[in-house]
Amino acid sequence: MTESASPTSVPAIEITNLRHSYKGGHAALDGVNLTCGIGLFGLLGPNGAGKSTLMRIICTLIEPTGGRVRICGHDVTRERRAVRELLGYLPQDFGGWRLFRVEEVLDTLAQFSGMLDKKKRRVRVTEVLQQVGLGDVAHRKVKKLSGGMVRRLGVAQALVHEPKVLVVDEPTVGLDPEERIRFRRLMADIGRERTILLSTHIVADLGAACKEIALLDDGQIVFQGPPPRLLAQAQGRVFEISTSAVEAETIESRHEVVSRSVANGQVTLRCVSEDGKLPPSATAVAEPTLEESYMAFMAGRGRTSAARQDDEHTDEATSPEKRQVT
Ligand SMILES: Nc1ncnc2c1ncn2[C@@H]1O[C@H](COP(=O)(O)OP(=O)(O)OP(=O)(O)O)[C@@H](O)[C@H]1O
Ligand SMILES: [Mg+2]
Repeated sequence: MTESASPTSVPAIEITNLRHSYKGGHAALDGVNLTCGIGLFGLLGPNGAGKSTLMRIICTLIEPTGGRVRICGHDVTRERRAVRELLGYLPQDFGGWRLFRVEEVLDTLAQFSGMLDKKKRRVRVTEVLQQVGLGDVAHRKVKKLSGGMVRRLGVAQALVHEPKVLVVDEPTVGLDPEERIRFRRLMADIGRERTILLSTHIVADLGAACKEIALLDDGQIVFQGPPPRLLAQAQGRVFEISTSAVEAETIESRHEVVSRSVANGQVTLRCVSEDGKLPPSATAVAEPTLEESYMAFMAGRGRTSAARQDDEHTDEATSPEKRQVT
């Protein structure tokens, strides 16, 4: 590690005008600026927004085509080794290792992360397995773990060398509600003394501990700020309406629906309005959730789920590149 950076004076993650284009593809990242200190930072954005690309660049796995990323003052392209010591990474597709035992996986990955002292490693592996709630299955083979346990093993391997910065890509996909709550608590706990950059489609999984949210859309950060600021922007844009099945269909075709329930022949919809105009007899929701606020923000940019599906079909028809879908 070079002496150029003092961890107290420089941000944990500092991204300046970051650009990346894959060969033959359009710009996956198009001038991203982002700064993260201690705490949990949520990275949100639709499929193909560039979240995984950004994370892979931060973790030194892809070299960007332009701009700069520094981790605690160290440049991700010129000081890879120093950056890797500072970083833990849970990739979107963490898996494999099926025939190995949980503790073997951690021990091996800890060595990859630079922990060469066998005794210290053994102590740390036991400690981190306890921390993620896998202490009782240390001897179990990975193929016998549940999906949630595999995700927690992924977190354990990212944490084993006690990194200052943790990057987790879609960690809650496929988890049941109990595991998601557990995961949220774990992130809140870890985020007290570290920087966590967490990408997710499940906005609620960021939880109350989330310090800031960054919204990535088509390779650009379109919002960065604390959750209450996003909530404030959604005021008056989220509405609820109880109506007949026929009228409900019309509303559903015009607005982004968040939830739908049916009782006694009446349909109750919770929707976001793209332009802030509400249908007659709808009531504005006084306290929209974070997910609704995110949807309202994206809808305001013309990014409803229907529009995104249209985009994806157009891309498939015109682009030879395979669009990554979670
Ligand atoms: N290896 C690759 N080669 C070419 N293009 C790629 C590659 N990986 C990603 N892309 C393209 O770069 C863009 C950003 O993809 P990326 O995987 O970073 O998005 P994402 O926000 O992580 O999406 P998701 O939510 O589906 O995981 C997309 O247009 C995608 O098709
Ligand atoms: Mg991704």
